[in-house]
Amino acid sequence: MPVTVLVGIQWGDEGKGKIIDVLTEQTDVIVRYQGGNNAGHTVEVGNDKYVLHLIPSGILRADKRCIIGNGVVVSPVDLLSEITDLEARGIAVRDRLEISSRAHLVFKYHRLADAARELSAGKAMIGTTKRGIGPTYADKANRVGIRACDLCHKERLESKFRAQAERYNRIFAAQGSELLDVEAEWATISAAADALAPLVTDTVLTVNRSIKAGKNLLFEGAQGMHLDIDYGTYPYVTSSNTTTGGACTGGGVAPRHITDVIGVVKAYTTRVGEGPFPTELLGPEGDSLREAGHEYGATTGRPRRCGWFDAVANRYAVMVNGVDQLAVTKLDVLDNQKTIKVCTAYTLDGETITDFPADLESLQRVQPVYAEMPGWMTDTTAVRTWNDLPEKAQAYLQWLSELLETRIGIVSTGPGRLQTFSA
Ligand code: GDP
Ligand code: IMO
Ligand code: MG
Repeated sequence: MPVTVLVGIQWGDEGKGKIIDVLTEQTDVIVRYQGGNNAGHTVEVGNDKYVLHLIPSGILRADKRCIIGNGVVVSPVDLLSEITDLEARGIAVRDRLEISSRAHLVFKYHRLADAARELSAGKAMIGTTKRGIGPTYADKANRVGIRACDLCHKERLESKFRAQAERYNRIFAAQGSELLDVEAEWATISAAADALAPLVTDTVLTVNRSIKAGKNLLFEGAQGMHLDIDYGTYPYVTSSNTTTGGACTGGGVAPRHITDVIGVVKAYTTRVGEGPFPTELLGPEGDSLREAGHEYGATTGRPRRCGWFDAVANRYAVMVNGVDQLAVTKLDVLDNQKTIKVCTAYTLDGETITDFPADLESLQRVQPVYAEMPGWMTDTTAVRTWNDLPEKAQAYLQWLSELLETRIGIVSTGPGRLQTFSA
């Protein structure tokens, strides 16, 4: 049975949530393996819109088992409110959700540290989501983190929490930033711990027993390739491995069990936050993509930066992730573009380069080389099969497939479940 990893191959927000939701019809177990509630995965079911931040997007289909793996950083307070919000909308969560006992916890002091760092960085700010993600992964690497298993032992949790909260408050006091109200925060955490403790399990066992039982598993990546801590546009990245390997280290699946890797990619490019973006369109062209694609962050509401499809960046991402099929989303957003451009190479200091540079200083100076084709100028949102796509839209997708040397498996021409078909 398939064990599929689905990753974003750009800078996040590729439409992973929508594709996951479509694929979960055929899936038994859905696993988030990295990131935290910096993610915002949108799923539209009929007239209902859901934005999932920590809970796998599979939760919207009844009877699917959902796992928050050890590589995820979990804010107990935000997770509890996500659970109660879904339950208030009639979705059963608690009997189907497991949280890895090894997952690290995000506390308010992490958020305060994230915000204070961004403020003090001035022009060097990363443009984080201010969800405390970086400081939590830093505590994990520094071996002072607090894990979900601690939620099940209140005394232990309290003493660890107080020790860390006091350490952070000493740092906040020294830098003159806002202090944490430790008592108020402990009261909130204590209540969240009571509610979440029953969901904490060794999810590595669930994952591997499910594989052994022949179940169909889907690993749901958050963020995207170029935000990966190792392969992304460092330091303008998030603090986890967003690429396929993250599913192994953060989801508890051994590489030999992975059978498929789906790379989700928009038909153009967006990025939110700071950092290099070679094909970014500043001015009216970028504004028109933003409006056509409703490109505003699902987590923070920030306007997303927009630009043309970047074959150099995406080819590198296909290689690192071992993508064997692409899911191309938001094709409909290009419906009204008279001319569509694709970046096929960069130039740097007069030289043509076709491999994505690792060095930030080089990346900031590259100039995109564009090839173009006429747009199809037809509404594709009602298209339900490949054959019904305008010929020029088919040609555009075939062109992307050739540039990335990867087949396109899925095409999406709208946010709804039905606006999806095989290529
Ligand atoms: P994710 O983080 O990768 O799950 O993506 P987001 O949910 O942050 O952003 C994708 C946005 O595009 C959401 O608002 C989706 O509802 C929407 N979306 C997904 N696929 C399509 C598509 O094919 N066409 C259009 N117009 N919107 C889409
Ligand atoms: P999904 O899963 C797009 C970006 C932030 C910032 C950088 C670091 O919805 O695709 P962080 O808060 O993680 O320390 O911020 O990463 N970022 C995302 N951009 N989609 C996301 O998630 C993102 N999660 C983080 O904007 O540039
Ligand atoms: Mg998103």
